[in-house]
Amino acid sequence: MDGLAALKAKYLTAVADAAGEAALEEVRLSALGKKGEISLKMRDLGQMDPSQRQAAGATLNALKDEIDAALRARKAALGDAALNERLRTEWLDVTLPARPRRIGTIHPVSQVMEELTAIFADMGFAVAEGPQVESDWYNFDALNIPPEHPARQEHDTFFLHRDPGDNRPPHVLRTHTSPVQIRAMAAQGAPIRVIAPGRVYRMDMDQTHTPMFHQVEGLAIDRDISMANLKWTLEEFCRAFFEVPSVELRFRASHFPFTEPSAEVDIRCSWEGGQLKIGQGDKWMEILGSGMVHPKVLTAAGVDPAKWQGFAFGMGIDRIAMLKYGIPDLRAFFESDLRWLRHYGFAALDMPDLAGGLSS
Ligand code: DAH
Repeated sequence: MDGLAALKAKYLTAVADAAGEAALEEVRLSALGKKGEISLKMRDLGQMDPSQRQAAGATLNALKDEIDAALRARKAALGDAALNERLRTEWLDVTLPARPRRIGTIHPVSQVMEELTAIFADMGFAVAEGPQVESDWYNFDALNIPPEHPARQEHDTFFLHRDPGDNRPPHVLRTHTSPVQIRAMAAQGAPIRVIAPGRVYRMDMDQTHTPMFHQVEGLAIDRDISMANLKWTLEEFCRAFFEVPSVELRFRASHFPFTEPSAEVDIRCSWEGGQLKIGQGDKWMEILGSGMVHPKVLTAAGVDPAKWQGFAFGMGIDRIAMLKYGIPDLRAFFESDLRWLRHYGFAALDMPDLAGGLSS
């Protein structure tokens, strides 16, 4: 079998030189394909006599195996090279900012919660949370609203069902965020500065009331906190929240069982041409309740009123959202009408922060 060495050299060189998978396949066909050079030589074995055939057959088989192995190795190497090339050219900069795609909107209530969290965080307030199903002790008693107190009726409370003989403490859907004051002080003690935004529930339904709505509670307890700190904090908040250069607040004496003294706070505004403007005009609009935390409330939460004092306030989130964004009907907030959500909703990924602008 002369010429096998040359044949071997020829094909091994061709394999090594094949620049791509298509060229390699051509080499395979011309050597090992049906009409390939090696295959034809294999066929010739049939015409040899048996002793010749044995020797030639073994040599040819070895050559065939060698070329086959070279083809496979080259194929793998070409595959690796192709993959490396792809990895080199197809890359993605994962540090690029995301391209916002509108797949829904942020509800005005969520937006306003983010806004007020950003504002109060800037003043050193942390966010505290409490359960929406609350024991009546946290919702009422600890806040200086004893069982016979008329404020319990005012609250239009949803009570949780209890079977006769069930003597677990009565539970309610919390009627305000004030119980979070108690939980936060009991857990953390004083000094403390927290806000607690969240859902609250009252049995009420008309154009300005829904059975579920949102409040934000504020609480600041320290050694020498006064009404002056309360006033400054609320003014700063309103200025930042309504995005106006100045606001004027009016404190009206009021009564809440959990504060002494208590004040309701109005903001100066105008209603010219049906359009609300905050910070100017000759009208006043009530926006929140507040006061100095009652000593009994501090005591209920395990804070010594001889050493600590502070202010608290409670504000309706839905209401300030309506005022800021000119949304007329409260009930629409909770109807999940997509057209309403598209109209009044905010772009996702547009997180409010004080430096970048709250609502822009
Ligand atoms: N909890 C009151 C309500 O739901 C609002 C409120 C008034 C909260 C005065 C306070 C406060 O913290 O000091 O109507």
